Amino acid sequence: MQKIPLRPVRAITFDLYGTLLDLVASFASGFDEFLNAKGFSGSVDDVVVAWEASYLHESNVDSLLGRPRTPFEIVRRVTLSQLFHKLKIAHNKDDIEQLVTTKATPTLFPDVKEHLTRLQSLGRYQMSLLSNGDLESLDRAVSGLGIPVDSAISAEQAGYYKPHARVYQHAIKELGLPGDRVLHVAAHAWDIRGARATGMAGAYINRNDIPYVDVDGSQADLEVPGLGELADRLTQT
Ligand code: LAC
Repeated sequence: MQKIPLRPVRAITFDLYGTLLDLVASFASGFDEFLNAKGFSGSVDDVVVAWEASYLHESNVDSLLGRPRTPFEIVRRVTLSQLFHKLKIAHNKDDIEQLVTTKATPTLFPDVKEHLTRLQSLGRYQMSLLSNGDLESLDRAVSGLGIPVDSAISAEQAGYYKPHARVYQHAIKELGLPGDRVLHVAAHAWDIRGARATGMAGAYINRNDIPYVDVDGSQADLEVPGLGELADRLTQT
């Protein structure tokens, strides 16, 4: 797949969970308290990471079955309960509810505010979230955490989950630009692959030191270790 030139890009979309929102920082302390009380001796960070993998997998089952999208907040609760069953952690519905709401401390990665503000101040880009999260959660994250973007676009509005093409097509339509004028930014290779397959440009944020892999051997349009380097590169284009 040929790389898309980044100079003509006029909109940037950002994945939220795992790209702007630090999942381990957001959930580990609530999980730690709960799991310690249950005598769990494994790594709590690994439980959060395993939960992320399982809800990503589960969220795509609707799309594969051709069924309407189950709300993300339901998928997250169901998969957390399934994971606890797998780990033999006794729990009830209230435990799950508290872990994903009151016991969570939504936390952005430290590079988000400074470098998204820098990008915004270039005055060149429409900036939005483009996330599998439900629209209400995204709006709450933008206002509650002060994420410097102009709007939130949710997979809910498309009725599918990323990486289904309909989600990226919906974003392109909302932004009113040709796909190659929109750069999607994510710390997940599967998300960048979805965006690029739909004609958008893709910047892979390699937060976890996992090389970008596309089965056709092509690279992302841009690969950087963090949002500071992304802002540097876009400032120079
Ligand atoms: C997002 C995560 C699920 O779409 O990748 O924000």
